[in-house]
Amino acid sequence: MSEASPLGVYVHWPYCARICPYCDFNIYKNRDIDAARWAQALTRDLEFWADRIEPRKLTSLYFGGGTPSLAPVSVIEAIIETCDRLWGFHSNPEITLEANPTNAEQTRFDAFAKTGVNRLSLGVQSLRDDALQFLGRDHDAASARNAIDIAQRTFPRMTFDLIYGRPGQGLEDWRSELDDALALGPTHLSLYQLTIEPGTAFAKAVDKGRWMPASEDACADQFDLIQEMTNEAGLPAYEISNHAAPGDQSRHNLIYWNYQDYIGVGPGAHGRVTVGGERLATETHRAPGGYLEATEKTGSGQSLKDPLDKDAQLTERLTMGLRLTDGINLYADDHFYADDNRAKTLKQLIADGFLTHDCGRLRATTNGRRVLNTLLYDLLG
Ligand SMILES: C[S@@+](CC[C@H](N)C(=O)[O-])C[C@H]1O[C@@H](n2cnc3c(N)ncnc32)[C@H](O)[C@@H]1O
Ligand code: SF4
Repeated sequence: MSEASPLGVYVHWPYCARICPYCDFNIYKNRDIDAARWAQALTRDLEFWADRIEPRKLTSLYFGGGTPSLAPVSVIEAIIETCDRLWGFHSNPEITLEANPTNAEQTRFDAFAKTGVNRLSLGVQSLRDDALQFLGRDHDAASARNAIDIAQRTFPRMTFDLIYGRPGQGLEDWRSELDDALALGPTHLSLYQLTIEPGTAFAKAVDKGRWMPASEDACADQFDLIQEMTNEAGLPAYEISNHAAPGDQSRHNLIYWNYQDYIGVGPGAHGRVTVGGERLATETHRAPGGYLEATEKTGSGQSLKDPLDKDAQLTERLTMGLRLTDGINLYADDHFYADDNRAKTLKQLIADGFLTHDCGRLRATTNGRRVLNTLLYDLLG
């Protein structure tokens, strides 16, 4: 790993004010937080990695969750200081915090901005009150707009998330909602299709026949409309669900999709790091209490550090890289090209218009990205 190779840190904050019925992230109902204990645990976990990986400056730091905007500002400040002490930041680093519009007070956002957070990611989900109610959110459209406005004035960069493919959502409803979203002048947007995750309240409602998920055709039409409208607005897709004005792509998420190194700390966080020439898949204890205890007893909250063999790495690289509009560079990747069956499948998928392949760069076309899981299955067997 050269000193110039990008390196990101992901910090998982596992608490939320309430649990949304569609969400299967590693999340827990918010409760009294011992800020000093959390700051110490996360610091120890970061120190664990600083002792093991080659010294490099950080490209990005990402506070995700859960709802990290509920975390004490002192914890966020301590982590940023620790990262600076252990690695130092590249000039102009990206430091993102995910926030729920419900906790969008100007003073709180000012306090986060003062710690060094320079990009806010707001979980808006919808700009329609009935949809927000259906999604079990505790904010309305007016407070979402207010949160976007405060975030745009407080942070150098911001983005917000919307969920489409909701049951009963017509194409014209989505056009008008997306139009409203684009009129707010975002330079980055994450537009996620609603997924019914097993074990969630939504999965139970669907099982009981309370409502039916949107049809594949309806979702495909909404996806196509997104491409058309975001292109027109100057925020083209750079990843399946992510759209940005030129230069405003998420540098942190690009680390995941380009299969570069990132450290994961906090309960249930995943990481991919190169240590002594080996690529490791890492994971921490999922339960907040277990994570705190492990860091206190062992100096690290990590529960798994698994070396990935060549096949596993290729699978992960393709799974992540083909999400990107730019695709991935497979030039001189002997492992990818060595398999004759794969070469045949590749040729067919190119002929069918799902993939393009120029000078070793493999890209999924818009049609290909729409059926990415099937493509990956065909390519990887
Ligand atoms: C960790 S949350 C974002 C921050 C914050 N917790 C919030 O909800 O406001 C990440 C994003 O994932 C998306 N998401 C979560 N579960 C989803 C699902 N089942 N289908 C589609 N999008 C989902 C939501 O848009 C959410 O904003
Ligand atoms: S969507 Fe956000 S606020 Fe809702 S449960 Fe998931 S992480 Fe928490």
